[in-house]
Amino acid sequence: MNKLNIGIIGAGSISDLHLQAYQKLGQTVKIAAVCDLNRARAQEKADKYGASQVYEDYHQLLADPSIDAVSICTWNNTHAEISIAALKAGKHVLVEKPLCRTVEEALNVQQAVRDSGKVLQVGFVRRYDANAQLVKKFVENGEFGDIYYAKASCIRRLGNPGGWFADKERSGGGPLIDIGVHVIDICWYLMGRPKVVSVTGNTYKKLGNRGNVKNLSFYKAADYDASQNSVEDMANALVRFDNGASLMVDVSFTLHAKQDETVVKLFGDKGGLELEPALALVSEKHDTILNITPQTDQKGLNVTAAFQNEIRCFIESCTTGVEPISPVEDGVELMKILCGIYESAETGREVRYE
Ligand SMILES: NC(=O)c1ccc[n+]([C@@H]2O[C@H](COP(=O)([O-])OP(=O)(O)OC[C@H]3O[C@@H](n4cnc5c(N)ncnc54)[C@H](O)[C@@H]3O)[C@@H](O)[C@H]2O)c1
Repeated sequence: MNKLNIGIIGAGSISDLHLQAYQKLGQTVKIAAVCDLNRARAQEKADKYGASQVYEDYHQLLADPSIDAVSICTWNNTHAEISIAALKAGKHVLVEKPLCRTVEEALNVQQAVRDSGKVLQVGFVRRYDANAQLVKKFVENGEFGDIYYAKASCIRRLGNPGGWFADKERSGGGPLIDIGVHVIDICWYLMGRPKVVSVTGNTYKKLGNRGNVKNLSFYKAADYDASQNSVEDMANALVRFDNGASLMVDVSFTLHAKQDETVVKLFGDKGGLELEPALALVSEKHDTILNITPQTDQKGLNVTAAFQNEIRCFIESCTTGVEPISPVEDGVELMKILCGIYESAETGREVRYE
């Protein structure tokens, strides 16, 4: 079998996790090209992972007919444009989360997927984590009954990555679109992807990026710059679904919280499940409440393994045509939720979807 030739577009922090995962699939995959606006950065990754082609302009990479598939690891404002161009050039696409910045962009990408017949997988990496897949089996077998409530929280007390992440034009927003997307998505996925009917949200800009804080380190964009910040510090929201279920959200880049905390919890009429902060199942048997700890090697989210699985599944979709676990349609629904929260915060009103 011919190896699939891969191009990486955007050679910053997250590209390493894509590149490492492709490298491990060396039997079926060849890392052929790396592209970044910053040529030195692209060259460095190409040297490290053995890619023979280096580009500054993604159009040139897409013009290479030997490239079969691309990973898009660029700023959020370029996701839609590059995805559409790649699909039109006949490439399969793995695009980092969020799919893009607006519902309109998302619908354009969806149309391009349908027109091209190529695979587009959205990088909702938490879906590919072993524990998420483990609990999904329990959900699908009705262990929790009707899931009617979920809580998605990702609180960073000091974690504005600066650079483009803090520039609303390039990112589309702050913690909600950057880290909120992960926890909202995993809850929504495990709830069975119900249709959203309304969203109400609040955003706050009170603390700024807290670039002044000393003695604590945090995730930073490749081009870190704390001098600009046009995104929210924190957001909260209540999302209602057509099956009567609801989802509570709160997320922050900066907040006077005692510690960072991620919460992913779902509650049904037969039992409950917690993915974060720790894997746990809850049920009731013979008038007794049981807290159940599944016995697994993996106690929490294993980011590297989740990326490895995400990329293995992407390659499988490219070669077999099987629908991705995180298809473009789900990217569109997530944009509806995220943009609805921003709109509600701006207008001070609930946003309703008919
Ligand atoms: N799945 C995850 O857990 C996860 C984690 C971090 C980041 N991300 C996502 O990955 C993407 C990149 O984030 P990052 O942390 O690597 O950022 P980064 O700033 O470290 O890297 C982004 C790179 O993209 C390059 N770039 C931007 N526009 C380009 C273009 N048009 N053509 C070529 N190169 C371009 C920049 O020069 C930069 O090197 C974002 O969409 C982010 O949301 C996902």
